[in-house]
Amino acid sequence: MNLMKAIQVHAKGEPMKLVEIPVPQPKAGQVLIQVEACGICHGDSKVIEGWASEYPRIPGHEVVGVITQLGIGVTKWKVGQRVGIGWHGGHNHTTALTMDGGYAEYMVAYEDGLILIPNELSSEEAAPILCAGETVFSAIRNSKARPGDIVAVSGIGGLGHLAIQYAKKAGFQTVAISRGKEKEELSRKLGAHHYIDAETEDIAKSLKDLGGAKVIIATAPNAKAINPLINGLCVGGEVIIAAVSDEPLEWSAMNFLVGTNTVKGTFTDINEMEAAIKFSVLADVRPMIEVFPLEQAKEAYEKMMAAKTHFRAVLSIKK
Ligand SMILES: NC(=O)c1ccc[n+]([C@@H]2O[C@H](COP(=O)([O-])OP(=O)(O)OC[C@H]3O[C@@H](n4cnc5c(N)ncnc54)[C@H](OP(=O)(O)O)[C@@H]3O)[C@@H](O)[C@H]2O)c1
Ligand SMILES: [Zn+2]
Repeated sequence: MNLMKAIQVHAKGEPMKLVEIPVPQPKAGQVLIQVEACGICHGDSKVIEGWASEYPRIPGHEVVGVITQLGIGVTKWKVGQRVGIGWHGGHNHTTALTMDGGYAEYMVAYEDGLILIPNELSSEEAAPILCAGETVFSAIRNSKARPGDIVAVSGIGGLGHLAIQYAKKAGFQTVAISRGKEKEELSRKLGAHHYIDAETEDIAKSLKDLGGAKVIIATAPNAKAINPLINGLCVGGEVIIAAVSDEPLEWSAMNFLVGTNTVKGTFTDINEMEAAIKFSVLADVRPMIEVFPLEQAKEAYEKMMAAKTHFRAVLSIKK
């Protein structure tokens, strides 16, 4: 029996651990992928905190690898193709919640959950685009903003640092909002025209002083970070919430009436993954990554949760 290394959450509430388990076999409609890279997303906290339908479970939903075996009936793919999979696993599955994910040397995936990865991107570069990148790319391109408008990004982590680049490259006046000064220099290098320190500045006033944001992408998973954003919009602007937080938000009706503002959510969309990858190649957008071996997944995850990663941790998993 062929064995593989994987990082597994054995039971709800248990810490993730390195294990050696049999390489999974693809069922009908599935392929076996030899994983080359897997991004570490804040959304991985769901499987680690116990949201998966069953355990043991392998985290990881920003996966790039090479197809090594086809299950019965697979027609879309060939052995040897390099493919990517995000949060939506195909067949109504959620990667790393209802099926195992990519913190492993191999994973099985449904053929309709995959996209082809172009040669211009390394596996480590492509992986974060499959969830973090796609989420903010589609939020911006389906927003009210038009070239020249102000687009602000709150929370400069995996999603936020890609949102800055997409906004800049798509022709928006781009504002980064972070806590402290630490991320200012890198945010400006990524393309931010302005930087707001949420610890020392009144975010809404600073945005209004610039003319008000047409769109603000909220990626910091914290109500205190999201609450002030609505008052920094220009007339007819929108706050788009990408962050996952169950804390209640504090807004009055007046916040919506003054300027007829909108607040909406955005959720990762399998149909936009290919477009996000294509735009990243076209406009030369790349994630800024810190690469870790599979064995250090726990350390990499903890660094991300402490908002210390610049800016996406990626597991590089080559045999
Ligand atoms: N909607 C979707 O489809 C979708 C897809 C992927 C991820 N998500 C969610 O989006 C959020 C961001 O994910 P990510 O992978 O980018 O996470 P991340 O890399 O940890 O970045 C989040 C950033 O938010 C800020 N932040 C974190 N904790 C904070 C706190 N307590 N108060 C204020 N700011 C805080 C930090 O930036 P600063 O240091 O700059 O403040 C941090 O770097 C998560 O909630 C994740 O679950 C949603
Ligand atoms: Zn994610």
